[in-house]
Amino acid sequence: MNASPRHLLLEILFTRFWVRALMLTMGLLSAVCGLLGPLFQKVFLDRLSGAAQFSFLQFESVNQIPQWGLLVLTFLSLLGALAFYQGVIYLGTRESLWMQRHLSQRLYDHTLSLRTESLHGKPVGEIVSIYTIDVPGATILLEQSLPQFLGILFPLLLGPWALVTFLSVPASILMPFLAVVLVLNFLLAFRQSKFFFQFKRLAADRVGYVNEWIQNMRTLRILGWIAAFEAKMFHVRKVETRNRIQMLNNGQTMNGIASSITFVLNVVLISVLLHSQSEPITSGTLLALLWIVAVFMTRPFRQMPWFFTFVFDAWTSIKRISELLQLRNREPLPRSREFQKLISWSAAGGGTGGADTPVPALRVRGLSLDIDGHHLLHDINFDVKVGEFLAIVGEVGSGKSLLLYSLMGETGATFEQYWIGENDARRLPLDQLRQFYTFVPQEGFIMSASLRENVAFNYHVGTEHDDNIRASLRRAQFDIDKERVENGLDTEIGERGVNLSGGQKQRVSLARVDFYQSPIVLLDDCLSAVDVDTEKKLIRDLLAGPSPAVGDGGGWKNRSRLLVTHRLSVLRQVDRILFMEQGRLKAEGRFEDLMRSSAEFREYTASLERHEVSSTQPPKPEPETVIEDPAVDLGEGQEG
Ligand SMILES: Nc1ncnc2c1ncn2[C@@H]1O[C@H](COP(=O)(O)OP(=O)(O)OP(=O)(O)O)[C@@H](O)[C@H]1O
Ligand SMILES: [Mg+2]
Repeated sequence: MNASPRHLLLEILFTRFWVRALMLTMGLLSAVCGLLGPLFQKVFLDRLSGAAQFSFLQFESVNQIPQWGLLVLTFLSLLGALAFYQGVIYLGTRESLWMQRHLSQRLYDHTLSLRTESLHGKPVGEIVSIYTIDVPGATILLEQSLPQFLGILFPLLLGPWALVTFLSVPASILMPFLAVVLVLNFLLAFRQSKFFFQFKRLAADRVGYVNEWIQNMRTLRILGWIAAFEAKMFHVRKVETRNRIQMLNNGQTMNGIASSITFVLNVVLISVLLHSQSEPITSGTLLALLWIVAVFMTRPFRQMPWFFTFVFDAWTSIKRISELLQLRNREPLPRSREFQKLISWSAAGGGTGGADTPVPALRVRGLSLDIDGHHLLHDINFDVKVGEFLAIVGEVGSGKSLLLYSLMGETGATFEQYWIGENDARRLPLDQLRQFYTFVPQEGFIMSASLRENVAFNYHVGTEHDDNIRASLRRAQFDIDKERVENGLDTEIGERGVNLSGGQKQRVSLARVDFYQSPIVLLDDCLSAVDVDTEKKLIRDLLAGPSPAVGDGGGWKNRSRLLVTHRLSVLRQVDRILFMEQGRLKAEGRFEDLMRSSAEFREYTASLERHEVSSTQPPKPEPETVIEDPAVDLGEGQEG
């Protein structure tokens, strides 16, 4: 879908065209009714004062209407004018809400389709402000500008026409006057829209800072950075307030000028009529003149500067929305419609522990990733067998996380070949590609939801899966009775509930992986925050393949497991190790083989060993917020 600003503007204005046509008709009817009122009044008054009979257009029959009929008609005309205009406003508001929903959905879908790096340079605050400020800002075109336009256009066409045609006002004076008013309003509105633009930019900055502040409040407090941060926000507020005051002042000037226009116009027109007409002005003409200028045309004059302001304002919002919608992923994964059935090897038992099966679970050739000219991953090639347990190791920043994200299509990585089972993954739509995987990010991931929902990863899950959820939690070493979750699976966790420790988050995330029987499991250093004892149990119950030491193997032995880790102890238990260095796959093989063949790997393990020795300290209790009974979880000294 085209998302250029011009296209968006047309989309906002002309989607659901029939409603726009209805608004246009009602606007016209409102203006016609509004004009009929003073004209009926003129006939009424002229007849009362015995002036010459008046007929507008060819409707001689107006003179047949009795006086009381004219009064009723005047009243009905004015009522009609109001009612039709209210109808326009109502439709405008409704359409604006519809369009807000439509635009938000489009933005939401688009933002979700963008990879992290494609959003580069757009801070969270700005995206939030596009949703919260620019979407309503753009649809103000429907809520305000379109009704205003209709309320201005027709009276400003019909009013002068009636003045010239029925009241003999000279067009040579009226038209230049209106032209000057138009230009003046345009200029004032242009100035006002600059304040509006500033206003939005500053608000976006503030939303960004507040966001950062709220997310890091605890750390900021600990670091003693609160005062500096508040000073920064206070400064932004000050600039914002100054802009706001200028904006209000300019708005008041606009209102003042707009309201005095009708007064000036009345004076000008009455003097012109007095001096230019041979016949004396009837009281009916005078009333109609005053009425048309001071009542009928007042609203258009008042609205005109705001109309221009809102149009300029909406245009800046449209441009900001368009800019976000036009962000593209640099290397889109090709999408195809055909989707071979999900391979069933995992459910069927597949192979075990690296057994030879004809089709590997994963085949990756020539995986490379460049971001902003940096070669972050180079020409990586590897296979993963069905049911194989792989460790991915390497120094900090060697590209381990990027490798996992690339497999899930979350980076713009390119592949010469990428097969998942029998599926050409380069041709799979992203959502289908991701169904092959379950993933635990480095920090674990918890939603503000109940424990049950967090494991099932579904807001609408009932109690029907509780047995499985409990079993998964148990296998992930999350003991509901011992952790601080007093309401069992119903306990709210995450930001709005119990704040879990790092290790608890990792174990809930592992339970989620256990609950979802995807064929391939990607774990990004997700054992880092659990203690050695728990890690052993997790490996025994979940990750390990069958071996004389652990027996049958853990619950995931039939799934292919890729574990990023910095733990030396794990490396001896995996089927194979991928050793990464500076974005390259430096070596691969079993632990003993690598120790023999690769000097770099030996050096790396030696550094791990040094680190593990130096970080072995007596266990400390967890932070006070997490565990109620300190005796419960002391074993996990590293959590937090
Ligand atoms: N979106 C990005 N844009 C640019 N560079 C990035 C991006 N993401 C990661 N990098 C860089 O790529 C390199 C590899 O990062 P990655 O997160 O994969 O490291 P890692 O091996 O997982 O490290 P760690 O052990 O600390 O988790 C780092 O130098 C990092 O700065
Ligand atoms: Mg990482």
